[in-house]
Amino acid sequence: MAINFLGIEVDKYEFRAFLTAVVVMTIFIFSMLYVVGARRSDVPQCVNFDPSYLKPRVEKIDDSTYQVFVVAQMWGYQPSEIRIPVGSTVNFYVTSKDVVHGFMIDQKDINMMAEYGNITKRTVKFKDPGVYTITCHEYCGVGHQNMQGQIIVNFPQAQ
Ligand code: CUA
Repeated sequence: MAINFLGIEVDKYEFRAFLTAVVVMTIFIFSMLYVVGARRSDVPQCVNFDPSYLKPRVEKIDDSTYQVFVVAQMWGYQPSEIRIPVGSTVNFYVTSKDVVHGFMIDQKDINMMAEYGNITKRTVKFKDPGVYTITCHEYCGVGHQNMQGQIIVNFPQAQ
């Protein structure tokens, strides 16, 4: 059976499929606007490469803000252990000395790439104390499965 839609003869089932597509696309678009707006979701930022990022370090900016320069290489991270106080906001700058590695923080929605010649930045807030494991989730050679680091969040006086 045909339906007249804006002067066009359309099959009933085709029209339903069309309506379903419009509804689904509308839900997708509003879902994206919701996560970007209300949930303040962000994506990794690319920072211009500078050799100073190849020096692994934790820098304290103020009582609750740190910047961490992470260098990934076969098969570990430097620094391999990051100690920060509870409630810290950390800007991670991640790069690689050799091949492509991953940088995924357990219990956080952080999933970054560590690439030679590139810097990837993300800002993460650590509200809860604990040990957060960093895992390489990008196959990078025979030692890949052991490539891990740690973020230890419980030291009010971090070094
Ligand atoms: Cu580094 Cu997998």
